[in-house]
Amino acid sequence: MKADPVISLATRQRLEKAARAAAGASYSPYSKFPVGAAVLADSGRIYSGCNVENASYGLCNCAERTAIFTATAAGERKIQAVAVYTPTARPTAPCGACRQVINEFGAHAAVICVCNSSQRIETTLPALLGEAFGPQNLLNASRRPVRHKVR
Ligand code: THU
Repeated sequence: MKADPVISLATRQRLEKAARAAAGASYSPYSKFPVGAAVLADSGRIYSGCNVENASYGLCNCAERTAIFTATAAGERKIQAVAVYTPTARPTAPCGACRQVINEFGAHAAVICVCNSSQRIETTLPALLGEAFGPQNLLNASRRPVRHKVR
């Protein structure tokens, strides 16, 4: 089993700061629930994002996914940690869809959720998403997609 990533206090603080700053750009006129997120990629770089809502509500994109897609578009493929900030009294953990997207790039990622009080959640993706479905379910040893037989 792979060990959880060790992230220094200074890096964690930078990540949290980036998540807090990202919430400032949140486009959330419908929910009025701004969220900021930041991810630490294997390169050491930090990418941030906010939730982006839409008049067609189902198209809303969470802050975590905005940050992860931004990192992916920059060429990153591995994520060590995710920080989420909401301007609430209690921390907010990533929604189920975002847990699945985090799993794609950071199956062992640390997940840190901060808010406007001193309350925080410090956990890991495996703790939030047990028995996850991921790339390993689709790839064989040669890492080519396997054609499954349906019966
Ligand atoms: N939201 C996030 O950005 N991240 C979460 O982890 C939970 C929910 C957003 C989606 C939507 O814009 C608003 O919060 C209310 O659900």
